Amino acid sequence: MIRVRFLKADGTLDKEVQAEPGQRLLDVAWAHRQPLEGACEGVMACSTCHVIVDRSDFEELPPASEEEEDLLDIAAHATRTSRLACQIILTEGMESLTVRIPSSATNWMGR
Ligand code: FES
Repeated sequence: MIRVRFLKADGTLDKEVQAEPGQRLLDVAWAHRQPLEGACEGVMACSTCHVIVDRSDFEELPPASEEEEDLLDIAAHATRTSRLACQIILTEGMESLTVRIPSSATNWMGR
């Protein structure tokens, strides 16, 4: 199991959950009622699943694709460690992953 920590926009801990390798971060967020809209459900047609990854965890992730980088360019409040939650797959080697949900991600759909 992988420990996933969701931080609020102000950096305080909102929720810490356990997730399985192979799960998509966006699905873990939805399962635990985190306010990530993910309007296109992962077909890379929005940036509403934008999260800011903890710096040390960010370096452990496979790099973003060009398509993901292009979408991150239009994400509100993007930083150097921003990623799209629909593109992050949890893997065996991970012990934990910490992400902050930016304040712009408040337009969720009641998941
Ligand atoms: S859900 Fe739309 S790009 Fe991630």
